[in-house]
Order: sequence, then structure tokens, then C-alpha cells
Amino acid sequence: MGKDLYEMGELPPIGEVPAKMHAQLVRPDRFGEPETAIRDEVIDVPEIGPDEALVMVMAAGVNFNNVWAARGVPVDVTKTQARWGEPTEFHIVGSDAAGIVYAVGERVTNVGVGDRVVVHAGQWDLDDPWVIAGNDPGLAPSFRVWGYDTCWGSFAQFTKVQAHQCLPKAPHLTWEEAAAPTLTGATAYRMLHGWPPNTVKEGDVVLVWGGSGGLGSLAIQLVTLAGGRAVAVVSSDERGEYCKSLGAAGYVNRRDFTHWGVPPAWDSPEWKTWFEGAKGFGKAIWDVLGERTSPQIVFEHPGQDTIPTSIFVADRGGMVVICAGTSGYDTMVDVRYLWYMQKRYQGSHLFNDDQAAAFNGLVRAQKVRTTLGHTYDYGETGHVHQEMGDGRLPEGNVAVLVNAPERGLTDLP
Ligand SMILES: NC(=O)c1ccc[n+]([C@@H]2O[C@H](COP(=O)([O-])OP(=O)(O)OC[C@H]3O[C@@H](n4cnc5c(N)ncnc54)[C@H](OP(=O)(O)O)[C@@H]3O)[C@@H](O)[C@H]2O)c1
Repeated sequence: MGKDLYEMGELPPIGEVPAKMHAQLVRPDRFGEPETAIRDEVIDVPEIGPDEALVMVMAAGVNFNNVWAARGVPVDVTKTQARWGEPTEFHIVGSDAAGIVYAVGERVTNVGVGDRVVVHAGQWDLDDPWVIAGNDPGLAPSFRVWGYDTCWGSFAQFTKVQAHQCLPKAPHLTWEEAAAPTLTGATAYRMLHGWPPNTVKEGDVVLVWGGSGGLGSLAIQLVTLAGGRAVAVVSSDERGEYCKSLGAAGYVNRRDFTHWGVPPAWDSPEWKTWFEGAKGFGKAIWDVLGERTSPQIVFEHPGQDTIPTSIFVADRGGMVVICAGTSGYDTMVDVRYLWYMQKRYQGSHLFNDDQAAAFNGLVRAQKVRTTLGHTYDYGETGHVHQEMGDGRLPEGNVAVLVNAPERGLTDLP
């Protein structure tokens, strides 16, 4: 007879599902800074539906969306979950996991109990007419981010997922290495390969903001693999050197410039100062390349601070592709640069099954380094998200050991 609750790091026999589990929760009455908003509690293990899988989480990846979930901005995630009929009084953070399948619903065929998997974060209604018609599920009305728009995230002993989210874990990676890169890597994959004709091609220059961060460190590698030349933007020379070690052609230190944020009105004298800053930044990119070539793709996520510059420096017919607004949402676009040079300003969000599988394939083939910066303990979940929210995390991606009893394991101990 199994136990009702296992302690962290204690592994139930494969396939035995206890009644209760530890999970890192946010609740609406404590939305705020992650350090205090995200807390360990014991709750019931969720039941799964016919197309779902229950995964015992060995390690979980840290992403910025958990910071937003903890703060309750820009949306209260417990209200979003209500749309899918999920609990509204709490939310388990986490949209990246590596673990072992412990149960599957009766219609599941792609994974079975005992499979070692990573979980990608794209969910949608399987009967969504848009999806059934063969369209990109990433654009489906029912598209949602597991562990952000939905309740049962990865910072828990067990997570409930749609079975199609499960991908085979790369056997050479430890649980913590495997847990870290899927969300950011597959997001970067869609941004760079998902918006034809502006996909990264041989010789293309790609400007990668936050080159040493979670998204950026993987974007640099994807650009390089496609034969492109990544120019990273960073806030220190140390981070820039790290980007070069990942394959970047060079880097620009954004601390050398001050023209960030929403520019002054185009007809004001102050605008000229902004314009000199933006031109200087563009020249810094040319200096890195040793030629006057502008980026065919600008890989954006800081948003408000940087979009005016990104639009300005993108090449004629090039694309600024953006998946976040970490520094703010009020981005201002001087449309003169957009229309005259026929540039594209493209939103991008997460990925679909094919894009997640393509990225995971590169990881399994050891073509992409997983850039794990640091591994934290389960009890530090709130703290590590505070560090991320405050911009103090080390380079690369970051993971938390959930049920893995120790670091460095590639399978069961
Ligand atoms: N929509 C989606 O599908 C999706 C998917 C993944 C992530 N995201 C979002 O993307 C954003 C970045 O995620 P991440 O995992 O890469 O975070 P991260 O690891 O914290 O890296 C972000 C990097 O951005 C740079 N940065 C921060 N503030 C900046 C500013 N004001 N101007 C220019 N650069 C700035 C920093 O690098 P330097 O200080 O070195 O410049 C930092 O390393 C987050 O908001 C996250 O929620 C969205």
C-alpha cells in the first residue's frame, strides 16, 4: 500500500500515484514579489483526462512568466484558468519540466508510464475547429501556456499535461539540464524559423537582445546553426564574452548608450539626441561585423526600452520579431522607418508541437548547448524567481530540482 504523500526527493514506485503532493503555489490574496508570493503547500494530486498524462517532475525550468504570475500582472492567472474549468483559488507556477510519466489517459498513444520526458508548454483544445482544420495550433483561439494560463504547472511533484506536450528527454542530459531549455528554446525557434519569408538564412545578421539570457543564449545558437551571424546585446563585457562562446559574431554593450525608452516627439529638438543615440547603436553593430550590414532579423523581448531602436536598425525588408515586453509595453514605433524601408514588426508567442519537437531534436542531437546557468533547490523556488525578477540571475537558463533527489542524475538514482 503506497503512501498518501511523499517527501521531496522521495520517489514513489513508477506508476504509483499518491493522493497528495507538494507544490509551489501562488494565491490571489498574496500576489506580489515572487519571494513571498510563491510558497510550498500540500494539495491533492490532480486527476487526468483521457488525452492527458501525469508526469512526476524531477526538475523544473525557471521562466519569467512565473514572475508575472506571482505579481498578478499584467493578468490574474487564476482568472485565466477559470476559462478551462480549472481551480481559481490557486495556481502552480512552472512551464518547463523534465520527469517521468506516472499515468496516462485512455486515449493516449504517444507516451506511456515510465517514459522519460521533457514537457513543452503549448496547450490547446484538441477539438478546436482551427486545429482540426490543420492550422497552426500556436494561433488557435484556445491556445494557452501550460503553467501560466493553466493551473497545473511544473513546480510540483506531479504535473497534469496534455500528452502531446511530452517529448523524449535527451538521455545525455541531467534532469536539471533537460528541464531548463524547452520553453525558451522552442520560443526562439518559432521567432527565427516560424515567420516566412523572414526566417533566418545563411549569412543573415540577427541582432539578439539579452544575448546571455534564457531566450538569447539559445537564439544565438539557433542563428549560428542556420548559418547566420548573431550580434548579441548585453549589459556587461563578461556577458558579451559568454555570447561569443555560444557562437555570436560579437556583442554591443547597451550600457554604452542612453537613448532608451519612448523617444521624444519627432519634431522636438530632443528627438535629435535620441536619433544620434540610435544611429550610434546601429554603427556599433556594423563595427562588430566589420561591414555596413544591418540586421535582417531583430530578436526582441525587452520591448518599451528598445523597440524604437530595433525598428530603426532593422534592415530594409527585415523583421523585428517580439515575444515580450520585459521593460514595459508602451512601445513607440516611428512608422517612417517601418513603411519607408518596408520592415515587418511581428509578434510571436510560444510555439506549436512541430517547433517544440524541432528544437528538442537539436538538443537530443547535441547540436544545441542547454546553457544551464545554475540549479536551485525546491525550497528556493520563490527566491530564484525573485532573483530573475530583479535581473540578478547568472547567464543562461536556470532550473530547480523538484523531485530529483540530487544534482547530476540523468535517470533514476
Ligand atoms: N511569449 C513567449 O512565448 C515568451 C517565451 C519565453 C520568454 N518570454 C519573455 O521574454 C522575456 C525574456 O525572457 P528570458 O527567459 O530570456 O529572461 P532572462 O533570462 O531574464 O533574460 C532577459 C535578458 O534581457 C536583457 N534585458 C533586461 N532588461 C532589458 C532592457 N531594459 N533593455 C535591454 N535588455 C534588457 C537582460 O540582458 P542584459 O542586461 O545583459 O542586456 C537579460 O539577460 C521575459 O519577459 C519572458 O517572460 C516570452
